[in-house]
Amino acid sequence: MKTYVYPKSQALFERATKVIPGGIYGHLGPSNGCFIPVSAYPFYLSRAEGAYMFDIDGNKFIDYMCAYGPNILGYNHPEVDAAAAAQQKLSDVTTLPGSKMVELAELLVDTVDSADWAFFAKNGGDVTSLAVMTARAATGRKKIIKFKGGYHGVAPWTQAYGNPGILQEDVMEVITIPFNDLEALSLAVDANPGQIAGVIATPYHHPALADNALPEEGFWQGVRDLCTEEGIVLIIDDVRCGFRLSVNGSDAYYGFEADLICFCKGLANGYNISALCGKEEFKGAVSSVFYTGSYWLSAVPMAAALKTIELLKEMDGPAIMRRLGLRLTKGLEEAAQKKGFNLRVTGEPSMWNMRLTDDESGILHQKWVSECVRRGVFFCNHHNLFINTAMTDKDIDFTIEVAEEAFDVLKREGR
Ligand SMILES: Cc1ncc(COP(=O)(O)O)c(C=O)c1O
Repeated sequence: MKTYVYPKSQALFERATKVIPGGIYGHLGPSNGCFIPVSAYPFYLSRAEGAYMFDIDGNKFIDYMCAYGPNILGYNHPEVDAAAAAQQKLSDVTTLPGSKMVELAELLVDTVDSADWAFFAKNGGDVTSLAVMTARAATGRKKIIKFKGGYHGVAPWTQAYGNPGILQEDVMEVITIPFNDLEALSLAVDANPGQIAGVIATPYHHPALADNALPEEGFWQGVRDLCTEEGIVLIIDDVRCGFRLSVNGSDAYYGFEADLICFCKGLANGYNISALCGKEEFKGAVSSVFYTGSYWLSAVPMAAALKTIELLKEMDGPAIMRRLGLRLTKGLEEAAQKKGFNLRVTGEPSMWNMRLTDDESGILHQKWVSECVRRGVFFCNHHNLFINTAMTDKDIDFTIEVAEEAFDVLKREGR
């Protein structure tokens, strides 16, 4: 199998470092340490289509990062793009919102079990912060409980004291406890009587750089009961899982009901929109919060979201992604075993996390992932991966073939 090289990506990155901080900023940048060895990875794309992306050197990849989640139906989905283009002809960013906004809120209320209303913004972090402000407005309390390793965006309250730019005041009302630990939750609530405004959590635990964890039996029911007893707002951050596990909300998928639920990545197949949904009793509180943005009423992403949700419901997108994810993860585990390695798969099959456990340092895993990337299977080594509905069994077969060859490289090079 031919292995890829990236001279054009590398040259463009050189140019970028002169005019863009870090060349590519955030966790997507090669200087961030997520892409090791850096020489195995492309940096810039020329185009993307369905399950694939094509870099500027002309290499084709099956993209298992799916833009970190938004690519749920396949890049450039013709029906979603047609709905967006039709709306673009009518209006997008305008003085008053378009009618699509009401239609989308109605569709979310009809589709998501815990939604009685919807409020739209752009990024996931916009709505996790709005959820926290709403919980504080509703309860008149200050403190928020979150779970260690859970990611809710980049707003100061989500970060750690000591991170550049973060003040102690930004985080002093935030308590962090381990996921799946009902006792720690009870202790935190008891230690702060009448002071906890909200608990925010992802539906299952999908931290970066660590094994993922599904909710243990009784965990969510215990959290729900405690929040109800104590008048604490239960916020589910469904930014990453939303519409991949269930179109009805990941709280419904795990058999409980959130008070507030945050959506973003799977909502509009890459068009730029997020939504906070919630129960009727929080409608007054969310309306009282001063919160808006220049592009938050734009109609094109709303038209795209309407079509994306309609298609996901029609085809039962979550079932398709689960089936493909199960086939792939089983195939990868078997490939590892066949070649004498141990691959640990955690999380949900449609957004699985994996790690070679033969070497706890992670270096072997990085090497295996990089050998897959060089052969056209874009995995990453620090984060969960994603399935989308455009992927096929043929893609899965090819991926397993590549994975086996990458294991052979590890063996040849003495692990
Ligand atoms: C669970 C979760 N919450 C919040 C966010 C923040 O979303 P955004 O980067 O769109 O602000 C992310 C992004 O990865 C996420 O995965």
